[in-house]
Amino acid sequence: MHLTNEEERTLKGDFGEGAQKAMELLVAIGEAFDAEKMIPVARAHAASSGQEGDLYFVEILAKGGATCKIPTTTNPIADFGYFQKVINIADDPEEASVAWKTKNYYKQIGAIMSQSCIPYLAENIPEYGEHVAFSESSATPYVNSVIGALTNRESIQTALAAGIIGKTPEYGLHFKENRKGTVLVKVEADLKDGYSYSMLGQYLGKKIGFGIPVLIGISKRPTIDQFINFCAMTNTSGAIPMFHMPGFTAEAATVEEAFGRDKPADKITVTDRELKETHDELQTATGDIDAVILGCPHYNLDQMGRLAALLKGKKIRDDVSFWVNTSATSKLMAERAGYVQAIEESGAHVIVDTCIDMFCWNNLRGKTGMTDSPKCAYYRRFGPVKVGNVEECVAASVEKD
Ligand code: F3S
Repeated sequence: MHLTNEEERTLKGDFGEGAQKAMELLVAIGEAFDAEKMIPVARAHAASSGQEGDLYFVEILAKGGATCKIPTTTNPIADFGYFQKVINIADDPEEASVAWKTKNYYKQIGAIMSQSCIPYLAENIPEYGEHVAFSESSATPYVNSVIGALTNRESIQTALAAGIIGKTPEYGLHFKENRKGTVLVKVEADLKDGYSYSMLGQYLGKKIGFGIPVLIGISKRPTIDQFINFCAMTNTSGAIPMFHMPGFTAEAATVEEAFGRDKPADKITVTDRELKETHDELQTATGDIDAVILGCPHYNLDQMGRLAALLKGKKIRDDVSFWVNTSATSKLMAERAGYVQAIEESGAHVIVDTCIDMFCWNNLRGKTGMTDSPKCAYYRRFGPVKVGNVEECVAASVEKD
């Protein structure tokens, strides 16, 4: 791999041990993928979660004096107060200390403390054609496909190293020819809401594994949250770094353009039956529930508004706890719109900066839960779980009139 003089010096440690470690990682990845050189990236998103592996790497960077050269956002981390304050549940001191340290090192290296898995909507928005380094399930396919920026399917550490160096090895999806479709997906299913897009993503991720689907048969442009749900699930049940929906996504206006001169390696048809089967596979509980978690990925402002309208004038049952995860930015906007007040008046909790993959939710272990997110169901935060759209989650939680 060809390195410039400055890159060589970074690798030798001339600019500190932190930058050296970041460069070592990028060079190793570049060599593994036969990259010929590094290219500049404009921004990065590190899907850190404040656990041991995150602490290990960011501590090396911070103690080695590294700082971010480009805007670099962070993912949700453990909550440090809401649970104790509101429902009087103590943190696990060991895990809390790992999360605290990780958070402080991120601050030290100058990362943007977005603590959200949807930073591409507000805190760190890529532009069309921009080379970036984004990790996180929904983030990678969203910025590649919906926005038309160029990123590989990064890990937390490679995205963070790119944030420190401001570069990434040039391979994979940084080349136009690697962004062509591989599988044709004919959608005959009725995609009526965000939940059906989650089911579609969950089904296709599992079915395709790694690949670039080209979807046809969708007559109406998906909303932002429908795109987010689809992205999160394809890249959780599978490893799908981008897709084309000609007419609605950024890069290919037609199916022919999406495949280039290549022929699809496979063709898949998705009907309501596949979506129903996907739903049935995820559902492991029946009957009454103890808790609901929404906002995986973090709810955006629109979703908060819709939830507020659904909960207005209703009361969450005393035997159900109801949680909505969102970003600090979305919550602020939702407060200004009166959505947060309407949600909280029902007895539901709006919580920011954290996600269901954190120890602070251990209090829900073993309970029967319900969610509108296959990713949340997959992480098994609950014991048995029911899945359904947001209307069904609300209906299962509120007092009957
Ligand atoms: Fe976001 Fe955490 Fe779900 S990062 S997608 S809320 S598992």
